[in-house]
Order: sequence, then C-alpha cells, then structure tokens
Amino acid sequence: MKYFLKVLLLLFLLSSCGETHVKTFKNEQYRGLITEKAMVVSARIEASKIGTEILKKGGNAFDAMVATEFALAVTYPYAGNLGGGGFMVYRLVNGDIGSLDYREKAPLAATKNMYLDMQGNIIPNKSTIGAMSIGIPGTVAGMFEVHKKFGILPMQDIINPIIELATTGFIVTEKQAKRIAEYQKAFRQANKDSIVFEKNWKKDDTLKNIPLAKTFKRLLVNGEDEFYKGETANVLVKFLQDNGSIITEEDLLKYKPIWRAPITFNYKGLKIISMSPPSSGGICLAQILKMIEPYDLNDFGHNSIKMIQVITEAERRAYADRNYFLGDPDFIEIPVKKLISSSYLKDRMKDFSFLKATPSSTISQGNIEIAESDETTHYSIIDSYGNAISATTTLNGAYGSKLYCSELGFFLNNEMDDFSSKAGSANMFGLIGSEANSIAPEKRMLSSMTPTIIEKDGKLFMSVGTPGGSTIITSVLQTILNVYEFNMTMQEAVNAPRFHHQWLPDEIRIEPHVFDLGTIKKLKDLGYFINEKHAPVIGKVDGILVLENGYLEGGADYRGDDSAVGF
Ligand code: GLY
Repeated sequence: MKYFLKVLLLLFLLSSCGETHVKTFKNEQYRGLITEKAMVVSARIEASKIGTEILKKGGNAFDAMVATEFALAVTYPYAGNLGGGGFMVYRLVNGDIGSLDYREKAPLAATKNMYLDMQGNIIPNKSTIGAMSIGIPGTVAGMFEVHKKFGILPMQDIINPIIELATTGFIVTEKQAKRIAEYQKAFRQANKDSIVFEKNWKKDDTLKNIPLAKTFKRLLVNGEDEFYKGETANVLVKFLQDNGSIITEEDLLKYKPIWRAPITFNYKGLKIISMSPPSSGGICLAQILKMIEPYDLNDFGHNSIKMIQVITEAERRAYADRNYFLGDPDFIEIPVKKLISSSYLKDRMKDFSFLKATPSSTISQGNIEIAESDETTHYSIIDSYGNAISATTTLNGAYGSKLYCSELGFFLNNEMDDFSSKAGSANMFGLIGSEANSIAPEKRMLSSMTPTIIEKDGKLFMSVGTPGGSTIITSVLQTILNVYEFNMTMQEAVNAPRFHHQWLPDEIRIEPHVFDLGTIKKLKDLGYFINEKHAPVIGKVDGILVLENGYLEGGADYRGDDSAVGF
C-alpha cells in the first residue's frame, strides 16, 4: 500500500515533466512507452528521436547508437560529449555478446603524483577543474569503431541530422536552464574567454552550436582521423596547451578504443551481461547480486528494512573490494573469477546479521569527504532486428572540466579525477582509491559505469543503465531487482525510490521524502547512518524491457528530461 502511494506521488511528479511517456493499463500497472519493434531511451527527446529515425530508415542499434551519442553531444552538454568517453555492451539477435571500451586514458606525460603538492597532499581542484583534469577523449574513436564493425547505414545518414540539429539548435529545458545557471562561476573559473554557456539561458530558448556543427561536418568528411590527427586535433591540442594541459598530438594519435569481453554471470534465472574493467560496474554488480541471491527479497518486501539491510551490506562489501582490487586490466592483474565466485561471496557475507549494521571500519578504513554528483548519461536501444545495446557516456563531472573549446563547440572531460590521486583519499564521488587505480601514462581510470543487458530463458529481456557516479551500480541493481523480484513494469522500476551504500562514507544515502519514516527509524536503531540530504538524485535510469508478447516497454527517468521514443 505504501509503495502504491509512492507510485502515485511519483506519477504526480511525472505529469509535470513533459516528455516522459507513461500510460495506465487496465491491469493498473503503470507502463512506460510501449512499442512493437524498436526503441531508444535517452536523456533527451531529440536524441531519442534522432536514434529512432535511424532505426526507421533500416539502420540497426549500432547506427542508432552513433546518432544518439552524437545528438546527446549537441543537446546535453552536461554529460553528452565529444570530449569524453564511455562504454557500450551489446547483444546481437543471434545471441553474440560483446562490449566496447571507449574510455579516456591518461596522457603520456601523466605521473602518479601529478595532483599532489610537495608535502604529498592533494592540490584542491587540480584533478577536477581545467586543463590538467582532462583525459584523452575516446568518444569519437568509439563511435567510428562501432560503425565500422556493425553499422549498416552510411555515416552521412547518421551525421547529417546531427549537423542539422547543431545548426538549427535545440530547446533549452527548465532543468537544463537551472543547471547551466548553477555552473556560471565554474565556467568563468575554468575558461580564459567567455563561453556560450555563460549566458542567462532560459527555458524554451533555442541554443544553436555552429562551431560544433562545423566539427561534425569535418568528421563526416575525414572520419575519426579528423579528431585524432586532422584540423580538429590541431585546434584541440593548441587550445589545451594554451590552457596548461600536458596533452600532445601524440596522445591523440595513440588513442584507440578496445573491444572487451563483458562480465557475465547468472542471478537466479537471469543471465546478466555487463561492463568489464576498466569499469567496476560489471564486477561490482555481480558481487552484490550474488551476495543477495540466497535471500528472498520479494518475501521481505520492496524497500523493507530487511531488503535495505541485505542490499546495503552486500554493497558495503562489494565497494570495499572495488576500491582495492579494480583498475585498468591492461596495467594490473584483477582476480575477476575469484571476486565473482559464489564461494568467495558467501564467505564475504558470513559476518552479516539482520540484528545490527556491520561497521565499514571492520571491513576497511578511510577518512573522506563526500561530494554529490549525478553526471554521466546513459541510453538503451533495441532495434527491429532484435539487436540491443546499452551505452553509458560521460565527461565525468557536470560539463566535465568546465573547460570549453569555443572553436570546436564542446566541453572537455575531467576524467583524470576517476584515478586515485593518492591511495586512501576520496575522489569527487567520495570513492576511496587504491594502488590498483593509481595514475600512469596511457592507463584508463576506473569507472562505475554499468551498461547492462539481461537475458531471461536465453532471450533478450532488458537493456538498462544510468548516470550517477558511484551510485550507478546500485541504481542499475535496484532497477533490475524491481522488475525481476518485485514484478514492476519497466517504468515503475525506474520510478521507484532508490538508496545507495558505497562502503565509505559509512552511510545509506536515500532519496529524500520517499522512504517510510518507520523504516528509516528502525534502520537507525540497527546502527545504520542515514543520509537524506546528499542524495537528491540517485541515478537517472533509462531502460527497455522486452515484454512477454515481444513488445518493448521503455523506462525513462522522470528525475531528468529523459524520454523513450520508438515504433
Ligand atoms: N566518471 C564516472 C564514471 O566513470 O564512473
């Protein structure tokens, strides 16, 4: 009953957020957009529409991916990007699976202690704002690689609508105007000259980006070489170096995306396919799901005390492992098999008791400060051939490093902050780092991005993912459980209130005003620290569920401007 009231509250919120499609069905479940054949769910309606148009033209999920990613670079500069990177997991109609790592990497001149002063202390803001925080961008190489391997439409069919979008502009949403306003000071701090976003942008204004349209025109003519060794590369390197960056032409030349085997594991009747290192997403998700597998969550009840306890304790243990063992697999040995083995995870949970919280200090220790963040962006696509992709892409922080190249029309990432600048210290997400994720030239920084595809009974069941920094993994987890354990529709699963624990700080972050007060009190009595203040948003999940009749249901998160479009 309480859950029903929460859903009503959320639906009230949904009714005021425009583009999210929610329908009520006779069975009184709340469903997202239902389509017969194909769908794109992303953070912006324009991106979902452009991706869908590509699918309608006969393009596949990979063509639509390139279009959607590039459209987000135009319409969602908060996280969509040409100056960042990401990960994509795919499942083909024949059941083949794989993933692409187009994560940024450290410049050749990067050093382990580059963010420390003479006393060995972290220099404030150096890894988060401005030119020194930037990793080598992977998005353009990633998109051309995807198209080369799997695309079926010519690149002009994909890029021309993006050029048109950047030229004619997009409508600024209310949430977007608010965010741009919030970052005015940071834009001024990071940029020598004033940038187009340093303007009082209002809801319903049209924002055009002619320099970005020109960059896309050159990409269309010259391909990825344009970005890594052409005119764009020259402009970019000069701009970066003028702003104090250590990135060189050689850094751009050497960037390559990498096809990697995804992490796969079973949870009850599901096969879960998620991102492998250098993202921690797949391993962490596997650890948490396997630690909670022996428990009957449905019997406990959705967001009940016992459900929150068992998930929190599993998350606490998984994040402690994450921070110690994980990093770029091309630089360190990661005991993947052991980390996700049932025997190891059973052992990891052996000191868990429903009678009281396990203090994180007994699992490991560290002192940190937490900085809230909900950046990055995710999109899910299923095409009419039955191929699925799940892709998460990022600049890291909101508008990345805040350094904006006006001549090229895009922000640069601050992904270097995802390395551990100093073992035992926290990054902007409050995640404590270790040696495994220390900085080295050409190394990729550890990520939490968790693009995930799920099979049920050997068939495609779901494509899901989210932004949210360290909360990505736990948001994807809860969305899967909401559908599979609690029989929610895709849209209900996305809407449902979320919580998060990441080992340190030792607290459960919960979305404010949507959890039962009695549950919160009881959790406090059991020794859990509850933080409602730092978590206005935990994830912004976008997903697609394949229904029993083969139709698709989109779940587009009302917490953003997210939107499902399909046919
Ligand atoms: N920059 C956020 C992540 O990769 O997890």
